[in-house]
Amino acid sequence: KTIIERIDTEQTNKDIIKKAGDILKNGGLVAFPTETVYGLGADALNEQAAKKIYAAKGRPSDNPLIVHIADMDALEKIAEAIPEKAVAVAKEFWPGPLTMIFKKTPAVPVGTTGGLETVAVRMPNHPIAKEIIQAGGGYIAAPSANTSGRPSPTTAQHVAEDLTGKIPMIVDGGLVDIGVESTILDMTVEPPMILRPGAITRENLENLIGEVAVDRTLIEPDSQKSPKAPGMKYRHYAPKAELTVLEGELSQVVKEINRLAKEKTAEGYKVGIIGTEETVRRYSTGNVKCIGTRQDEMTVAGNLYGILRDFDSDGTDFIYSESFSTGGIGNAIMNRLLKAAGQHVIFVK
Ligand code: TXA
Ligand code: MG
Repeated sequence: KTIIERIDTEQTNKDIIKKAGDILKNGGLVAFPTETVYGLGADALNEQAAKKIYAAKGRPSDNPLIVHIADMDALEKIAEAIPEKAVAVAKEFWPGPLTMIFKKTPAVPVGTTGGLETVAVRMPNHPIAKEIIQAGGGYIAAPSANTSGRPSPTTAQHVAEDLTGKIPMIVDGGLVDIGVESTILDMTVEPPMILRPGAITRENLENLIGEVAVDRTLIEPDSQKSPKAPGMKYRHYAPKAELTVLEGELSQVVKEINRLAKEKTAEGYKVGIIGTEETVRRYSTGNVKCIGTRQDEMTVAGNLYGILRDFDSDGTDFIYSESFSTGGIGNAIMNRLLKAAGQHVIFVK
């Protein structure tokens, strides 16, 4: 049986936080909101607890977990050889949507790190997350709280869809703020390398610490090399429908989506279209959803996973999506969208 407890972000309920903390300290699982997506938490230093996460999500056990902390003092117990650049990055971007990878200490079981000698660490900026991490002992392993392969959850309802009956407790803090997972920065290499793009961009990091590399497999998705973040190799974030992303001049993209939508509808399929405030009125067939405005791509990031889930509940067969810029958060949006599409892209001339 899964209990869903709603709490106010402005004034968290001490009883609920304590109940969540007790479950975690006893080796159980609790789903809770962070500013990026909902996480599925377990005591990161308890190997048996971390193992439960893999079972509940149906996640491959070679895919390592991120350890969430609530203060800087907690870092030393789990990470070794912390470079000066990492201290500078932490000062600027923690708490926040950024994960850093370090050499792990023996305190972190390999059951948490998927067998790796490194550990991913994040300090989230969300009042409920902070209090739950502290109440749960200070070191909480938390992947996104979805069934492996489904879009990450941005509401407690999404978590409930995937995990009801599999975990004892979901803490509902409403809709998350950002909507795509944290940037992952590998601090064990020089220059530091981005393994997953997020709200903290390469430019943000380079302004602070100089050169930052980007895992080539993120830029060349067809490359034969495996991504450095084990989780990035799976067809992730995927809706049940076949998703196609269209790139090119916007008015041509709209025209081509209209053509494809008419064709598939005539063949008897359910078609979904991901448009923007700037374009939604120009679509004439299919189930058209507005993902946000091109003027502020943060709105697009915030709506992406929810829209993919909505298309699933609508029983959609084919989804056509516009593409987005690759500046700022746009880079993270395109990374997730292309993964959800299994790299299925049409370039419109
Ligand atoms: O925003 C987020 O980061 C969310 C919230 C809940 O904090 N968490 C999240 O966790 O996205 P998850 O497990 O869904 O994604 C973690 C990613 C995976 O791709 C995993 O392979 C990578 O981080 N990762 C974890 N530890 C790693 C390590 N030691 N080396 C390389 N990649 C690592
Ligand atoms: Mg995930």
